[in-house]
Amino acid sequence: MKFLLFFLVLIEGVILISGKKDYYSKKGSHIYKRPNGSVSDPYPTVFKEKYVGGLRFLVLGDWGQRGNGTGQPQVAAAMKTWADRNKTSFVINVGDNFYQTSTTTAKTVTDPIDHEGVSNETDHKWKSYWLDVYGGRLKDIKWFTVAGNHDWYNNVTAEVDYFWDVDSRFFFPSLYYVRKVKFGEGICAAFIHIDTNPYYYNYTSYNHTNNLKQTLNDSNLYTPEQLDGRLKWLEDQLKNVQDTDWIFVVGHHPLIGDCRIKNDAYYLMYEIPPILTKYNVSAYFNGHAHDLSLSTDNATSPVTYFGSGAGGAALGIGCLNPNWTSPYTFGFLSVKIPSNGKTLYFDFVDANQTDTPPKVIYSGKIKSRKVKDEN
Ligand SMILES: *[C@@H]1O[C@H](CO)[C@@H](O)[C@H](O)[C@H]1NC(C)=O
Ligand SMILES: *[C@@H]1O[C@H](CO)[C@@H](O)[C@H](O)[C@H]1NC(C)=O
Ligand SMILES: *[C@@H]1O[C@H](CO)[C@@H](O)[C@H](O)[C@H]1NC(C)=O
Ligand SMILES: *[C@@H]1O[C@H](CO)[C@@H](O)[C@H](O)[C@H]1NC(C)=O
Ligand SMILES: *[C@@H]1O[C@H](CO)[C@@H](O)[C@H](O)[C@H]1NC(C)=O
Ligand SMILES: *[C@@H]1O[C@H](CO)[C@@H](O)[C@H](O)[C@H]1NC(C)=O
Ligand SMILES: *[C@@H]1O[C@H](CO)[C@@H](O)[C@H](O)[C@H]1NC(C)=O
Ligand SMILES: *[C@@H]1O[C@H](CO)[C@@H](O)[C@H](O)[C@H]1NC(C)=O
Ligand SMILES: *[C@@H]1O[C@H](CO)[C@@H](O)[C@H](O)[C@H]1NC(C)=O
Ligand SMILES: *[C@@H]1O[C@H](CO)[C@@H](O)[C@H](O)[C@H]1NC(C)=O
Ligand SMILES: *[C@@H]1O[C@H](CO)[C@@H](O)[C@H](O)[C@H]1NC(C)=O
Ligand SMILES: *[C@@H]1O[C@H](CO)[C@@H](O)[C@H](O)[C@H]1NC(C)=O
Repeated sequence: MKFLLFFLVLIEGVILISGKKDYYSKKGSHIYKRPNGSVSDPYPTVFKEKYVGGLRFLVLGDWGQRGNGTGQPQVAAAMKTWADRNKTSFVINVGDNFYQTSTTTAKTVTDPIDHEGVSNETDHKWKSYWLDVYGGRLKDIKWFTVAGNHDWYNNVTAEVDYFWDVDSRFFFPSLYYVRKVKFGEGICAAFIHIDTNPYYYNYTSYNHTNNLKQTLNDSNLYTPEQLDGRLKWLEDQLKNVQDTDWIFVVGHHPLIGDCRIKNDAYYLMYEIPPILTKYNVSAYFNGHAHDLSLSTDNATSPVTYFGSGAGGAALGIGCLNPNWTSPYTFGFLSVKIPSNGKTLYFDFVDANQTDTPPKVIYSGKIKSRKVKDEN
């Protein structure tokens, strides 16, 4: 069986099944080649993965913060138990991986290494905010990552470099990349990971003192042409995966709901939902709003919008008027697709209180793109 799996893996050009440093060869070099150019260039080829049986993954966002009013350790503990018992395949990390604690409500913490994001690949925060926090199976599986605004505020390039140079479990080959995941009875799910930051913050009017603006400039991602180019890329990827059972798009910022109305800097985000609708995307996963939430655009849109931004940073209200929400709470989202691939079951898990066990507060299901609408 092992031999067979190994063989399959060679055919696929990837090794996933469950090994540790499996994106490295025996000699320790990456089995993927880092392309030349900017971290904002979409990764040129599709990553392929294969899992035995059904697919289970957790969606986590807005987590890397500590101190008074934050909840990272309790969410990490709840996720560990869940992942260990349920053999979770991977984590979808929707960003805001590393915050600065001292500028938030948790002002009581005096942390000598406190700053936004990470500064470089050897920043202590890799250990103290990630490696030391998430235990058990969460240490063995991959964290498929997109960047949040707090990651851009310092050095987002360093997070991509960390994947290439230090630890491929923090899966972040570029700001834009595509995975095709095979599992169960010949089922295929596509995941398109995108960076929403340049669509959320208007480059021209953005005045803040952090690195976001300069990094957009450095990575050639600020002119309308460049931004249209990424949307064209998204559309091309969606066209290429139309034969799949499931299509998921992953980004940091919410795409629908009142967040965009409230936020003056919402900028070009409104261009994305019609594209997702056009290509019958199954779901979009986001964070940014510090809550757990579920929304649909309108009765004609097939896309389900999952918000999972309650991973530990200061409690928040989230976006107003979603179809369902749990604001001011800590927790995560769990997704399960059994091996016949027809239905996705989701559970929002609340880990708000340290003195009571985590509990599922909202569950539901959505159907595969290949299950026809009933009339
Ligand atoms: C990428 O960089 C390497 C090393 O700097 C160089 O040898 C190679 O020609 C470059 N490839 C392209 C396509 O620019
Ligand atoms: C945490 O913050 C709250 C509200 O600002 C404050 O009342 C409380 O004393 C703080 N707790 C600690 C341990 O600093
Ligand atoms: C495993 O996942 C199921 C939902 O698929 C959930 O009901 C159960 O509580 C989870 N088990 C643990 C130990 O977290
Ligand atoms: C990396 O970043 C940390 C935190 O800002 C800093 O203390 C350290 O000196 C930096 N290391 C290098 C090699 O620049
Ligand atoms: C960001 O981190 C990388 C290392 O990953 C380093 O080479 C680069 O100089 C850093 N950039 C800034 C602006 O500090
Ligand atoms: C940015 O700064 C300019 C010049 O000071 C000001 O006119 C503009 O309103 C500011 N924009 C925002 C979004 O704060
Ligand atoms: C972006 O900001 C500029 C400068 O304030 C403004 O002229 C432009 O209309 C804004 N674009 C959008 C789409 O909001
Ligand atoms: C991009 O950054 C460079 C160097 O900081 C600056 O000279 C240039 O004006 C910036 N371009 C825009 C469009 O902001
Ligand atoms: C429903 O939302 C989609 C975007 O997801 C949009 O393209 C479509 O026009 C909307 N339909 C109605 C009736 O508002
Ligand atoms: C969710 O809310 C929107 C806006 O109120 C509504 O158009 C949509 O039909 C609702 N979706 C469901 C599944 O109830
Ligand atoms: C979560 O816990 C905080 C106190 O730590 C409390 O203020 C908040 O109301 C709780 N949220 C929910 C949904 O129970
Ligand atoms: C779009 O996806 C839905 C499931 O969300 C499915 O029922 C429907 O048949 C799909 N439409 C097309 C045109 O494939």
